[in-house]
Amino acid sequence: MSDSRITGFYGLPVGERIDELERREWLSAADAAALKSGRHVLSVRSGDKMIENVIATFGLPMAVAPNFRVNGRDYVVPLVVEEPSIVAGLSASAMHARTGNGFETRCEDSLATGQVHLTGIGNIDAAVKAIGDARKKLIAAANDVHPRLVERGGGVRDIEVRRLQLDEQTESLAVHLLVDTCDAMGANLVNTICEAVAPAIAELCDANVAMRILSNLSDRSMVSAKVCYRCDDLGSDRDTATRTRDAIVLANDIACADPYRAATHNKGIMNGIDPLAIATGNDWRAIEAGAHAYAAEGGRYTALTCWSVNDEGDLEGQIRLPLKVGIVGGTLDTNAAARIGLRLAGVTSAAELAQLMAAVGLAQNFAALRALVTSGIQHGHMRMHARSVAAAACVPDELFDDVVTALVESGDIKVWKAREILAAKRDSGGEQDGFPAAGKVILFGEHAVVYGRHALALPVENGIVATAEPADTSSISIPAWGVNEAIGDVGRFGDAVLMIARELGIDSENYVIRVASKLPPAMGLGASAALAVAITRALAGSFRVTVDDERVNQIAFACEKLAHGTPSGVDNTIATYATPLLFRRGDVLETSELVLDQVPPIVIGCSLSHGSTFEQVRAVRSRYEDCQDQIDAVFDHMDALALAGVDALQQADYEQLGRLMNICHGLLNAIGVSTAELEHMVSIARSAGALGAKLTGGGGGGSIIALCPGNVDEVTNALEAAGFATLRLTGHGESAVG
Ligand code: MEV
Repeated sequence: MSDSRITGFYGLPVGERIDELERREWLSAADAAALKSGRHVLSVRSGDKMIENVIATFGLPMAVAPNFRVNGRDYVVPLVVEEPSIVAGLSASAMHARTGNGFETRCEDSLATGQVHLTGIGNIDAAVKAIGDARKKLIAAANDVHPRLVERGGGVRDIEVRRLQLDEQTESLAVHLLVDTCDAMGANLVNTICEAVAPAIAELCDANVAMRILSNLSDRSMVSAKVCYRCDDLGSDRDTATRTRDAIVLANDIACADPYRAATHNKGIMNGIDPLAIATGNDWRAIEAGAHAYAAEGGRYTALTCWSVNDEGDLEGQIRLPLKVGIVGGTLDTNAAARIGLRLAGVTSAAELAQLMAAVGLAQNFAALRALVTSGIQHGHMRMHARSVAAAACVPDELFDDVVTALVESGDIKVWKAREILAAKRDSGGEQDGFPAAGKVILFGEHAVVYGRHALALPVENGIVATAEPADTSSISIPAWGVNEAIGDVGRFGDAVLMIARELGIDSENYVIRVASKLPPAMGLGASAALAVAITRALAGSFRVTVDDERVNQIAFACEKLAHGTPSGVDNTIATYATPLLFRRGDVLETSELVLDQVPPIVIGCSLSHGSTFEQVRAVRSRYEDCQDQIDAVFDHMDALALAGVDALQQADYEQLGRLMNICHGLLNAIGVSTAELEHMVSIARSAGALGAKLTGGGGGGSIIALCPGNVDEVTNALEAAGFATLRLTGHGESAVG
């Protein structure tokens, strides 16, 4: 099977999503055609044969969550569910998990438990002994009931007896038949066996048969999954990431201690497992019953997962639960959609499907806990709700995201409100006023600058625009980053905002900050510094505090220290002054501003992976220690490229600038900070005609830049067609997003 990472899948129309799955061989041509034509949907005629009193069939959305990697294999997970945010949460959790190698799962056993309940027993001890003595004979008799199951390698494996105290005087026996049902869920099989052997067992014990039926507490089909999320991936900076990590562990501890919370916690897990069960034709009520019964097995209902911090400081999650599922029989025989779901899941055994389910449950739990301890769960839900409201208000594509954002911010997610916002946007041409700050791209010298060499950076003008106004309580919203939080909460931005307010002398005030960002966070584009600058300016403007640019720069530097520990000072300087900068780090930061006649035609491509500058700098340091002379030579070469780049840039000699950028990218690759994805993007940009293309910033993920005079559109389109978001560097106060 191919790589399950499918970039830009979310943004495709439904038909193109099916095409993409077919192109990548997750779907066969026949299944793709069936999905497009609607032929897969259960007919009323078929439904009428499945249950009684049928009057119609009933639709639910079917989606896929890409990105899953389980035991080293990729999966696209089919999901049938009506609740928004589940699919997005799963896809994101699965993507993040890949940096820690995905999910590792294990199926401990795969036996179904059939029960024969015996009552009215005169001598319980004698009955238990009689069953023990006849064990082999009983197993053989039970296996005679389903010879074909035995031929397929399954059958009854063992018989166990449990004594039950019904009341003070009455004891009964539960005789368990442990059945290997091969790849079937096996409910009918097990029930038939139980019914067939019950009279013989009852006779042995001189007892009455009270019931013969499968147990859904399938604790002889235990499945476990574990995953590791790197701490650095949990937040935009180390502090936030650590706080989020610890808050997730705490949230899990609370669920372990409190059955009220555990019920919701486990419901979130089942939010992942049930949709996969439905999509593959499995009995989700049986799975639910088993999971919840197991959660209460210790005498008190508790969480099914466990989250902890490992020795490396990363977040580790584990789940263990009973999952007895099937890939043959059941509704699969009658429901074509379930058969497609199963083929999409690409599993070849029931045990494999159970393991995928466990991974999906764990991923969904991570998504829920992460949202709960950061922005809250309502935010994602509200955005999805706002999308359907905007669609109902017939908002055109070009204003769709803006209107959705404004709807969420308004708190009034209604069709009339969407129409009102749409009208206002049309009147104002969709422009947003506010206080701007620039992002940055490094043209030459990333990493080398840490070792005292020159680096050259360019601003991304108006990367972030903020507004602030007095309010009753303080909050910040950054719709493009999915942020909407009260200041002072366990949020990502509270500390920085409070510090800015303190520096401006308005710490006793309350305010609402709204941020429009064209810069994605944690992509090496200086978003955090730009945010600090824009917020400082917006708060100063709103509360009439006079600050000059130097003061803004100092405050933003202090925020950068809060976020990154030891920042170079480059990001906040560019964010404040929005000028090209040649710089070198010694004891102090030496900077010289460059004056350019024109803004170079550069397209920024954002990869799908966050790059952690902190981690890349650390990795380069360790390689440097192993090969100091060679890497010093690379850094010298980069230094020369930065200086030559200044000349090429000032003369607008883009042929030469492109060559230098390509060399610089090769050198960055040589010191190990490029990734397969960044190489792919660079190659797309060059094939589409970029004169030069290179990673920008720390690498290991993040962004690339491509120099493309005369073919900005072609390069933009090529990157976007491959699923990467783009941003352009444009001059004179505008920076357009592709
Ligand atoms: C909502 O369907 C599921 C959650 O409540 C799960 C949880 O609280 O962990 C978000």
